[in-house]
This record gives sequence, structure tokens and C-alpha cells, in this order.
Amino acid sequence: MPKHDLRRIGDLTLEDVRAVFDLAATLKAELKRRALRPLLAGRSVAMLFEKPSLRTRATFDLGAAQLGAHPISFTGAEVGLGRRESIPDVARNLERWVDLVVMRTFAQSNVDQLAAHCSKPVINALSDYEHPCQALADFFTLNEHFGSLDSLRVAYVGDGNNVTHSLLLLGALLGVEMRVATPDGYAPAAAVVEQARRTHPRGAAGVWTGHDPLECVRGCDAVYTDVWASMGQEHEAAERARAFAGYQVNSALLARAKPGAKVMHCLPAHRGEEISDDAMDSPHSIVFDQAENRLHVQKAVMAYLFERSR
Ligand code: CP
Repeated sequence: MPKHDLRRIGDLTLEDVRAVFDLAATLKAELKRRALRPLLAGRSVAMLFEKPSLRTRATFDLGAAQLGAHPISFTGAEVGLGRRESIPDVARNLERWVDLVVMRTFAQSNVDQLAAHCSKPVINALSDYEHPCQALADFFTLNEHFGSLDSLRVAYVGDGNNVTHSLLLLGALLGVEMRVATPDGYAPAAAVVEQARRTHPRGAAGVWTGHDPLECVRGCDAVYTDVWASMGQEHEAAERARAFAGYQVNSALLARAKPGAKVMHCLPAHRGEEISDDAMDSPHSIVFDQAENRLHVQKAVMAYLFERSR
């Protein structure tokens, strides 16, 4: 059986996503009962992180351990990916020792290259182009809160970044109406928007992009944002703060969405920039549910990919 990677949302079918969500819900319930199921007993997971992380690192590490696997972590500086050793050779080493590889890196091509040369499943834990594990946890969280994803309308306001890409692609696959407002020059990649429109059961009508945050959030069940300068773009922070003025998710913007619309953020948040304190701390904020669900969903992803690749 060919191995199954999660390099991008496009690696998943709707059937895969449903299976991951079902398993995540089961694993979450079992953890609450302290009934851990060692689906990866005796296995090992390599985690290669070239960028900082709190949530992803903690939840993959804990998740692997809860599944009975041994996690082993490396920083980018330790491995010297592509400098000390080529990516194909790193892959050829890791596959001899471990059963899964989790990678956080800069270029999407690094994930693709590692996956191409590794016989074990590779999971993208964030690249500059996609953050598929985040989007899976986010839609799992929405499904928990609404009981169904049918007829949902989700707005994303801010930078058209890696998180936006994965949200657009997964939202389209799940048939969720996606609406994205970005300043001019910060739109998601056109190829991603086109792919989402091709994927969405309602076609182009299911995916709206534009520049007006008020128009974007109108009638939405959830309003999502992310930092204006992602990892590696910190030197652009001042320029971006000017470009994104007017794109803050705050109570005034939320008043234009559906009453009680959920507030979402992948975190870390820069309070007072892309999100106000009142939005982040509102009773409708589900940002920490999203963070919690990273654990359950990524455990499901690891177990599912491992099983599908045997
Ligand atoms: N949302 C997210 O990926 O968080 P970290 O960067 O802390 O892992």
C-alpha cells in the first residue's frame, strides 16, 4: 500500500477528513475518561521544527506519547536541513528509525521533498504555504460547536497566509461557505482560491474574496483572524500594521456578523493588532477550544496516516 502523507489539504479526500474527525472525537472522549488507546504502541515519531511553536510542538509531542509512541524532536539548527545535510538524505535517515515524520518549515517544497524521499508518512506542521493540521482542528472545533458544518458561513479577515490557504481548501472540501477579506496585495494565492472554487460543491458561489471586512463578515457564523506578520515576516511588521489598519477583529466588526458569531484565531495572537481583547475574551471566542483540539485531531491524523500506510 502506498504511504499516505499530509503535506497539504489536497492530500485528503472528504472520506479521509470524516474518518479523522470521527477518530479525533473518539480519542478526545477516551482521553477525558483517561482511557488512552495505544494505537502507536512501540512506534516513534520524528518532529523536525525549523520555526518556533507552542501549540503544534506540544500537541504532537503529547499526542504521540498518549498514543504509545516515542516522540523525538529536532530544531532546524540541529539538523541544518539543506545545509548540513540534504533533505533527501535526512529523509533516508529518518525512515530507518521512525514510523512518522512531522515537519515545520519555511518553503512548502521542503515538505514535498522530504515526503518524496521518505518511505514513512510525512505531516506538514506548517509551511509558508499551508497549515493543514490547524485547519483540520478548526473545522473539527466548528463541528463540535454547531453540531454540523452544513450551511455554515465562515469569514476570515486579515492576511491571506498559510492558515488562510488551508482554511479555504478544507472549507471548500467540506462545503462550508468561505469568505476572505484582505488588504490589497495580501490576498491568498490565486491558485488556492481557484482550487477552492473548483472543489466547493457550490463552485465560485461558495468562496468569496474581497477587501471589505464588513462585507466579508455579513451573515457569518464564525469570524477568524491570524497575525498580520507571520513567522519570517517580522521585518515587515510596521508596513503591514499600516496596510492592515481597519482589518482588526473587534466588537464593532463582530456586530456585523450573525449574533453570537464564534471568534476564531489559530494563535499566537497579537492582542490590540489583528484582534481586540474584547473579541478574544468574548463568550463567543473559541480560540482555546481550537488550541485544545489540535491535540485530538493530530493524534487522529498520526494514527490514521500510520494505519493507511501499512
Ligand atoms: N497555531 C499554531 O500553529 O501555533 P504554534 O505556532 O504555537 O505551533
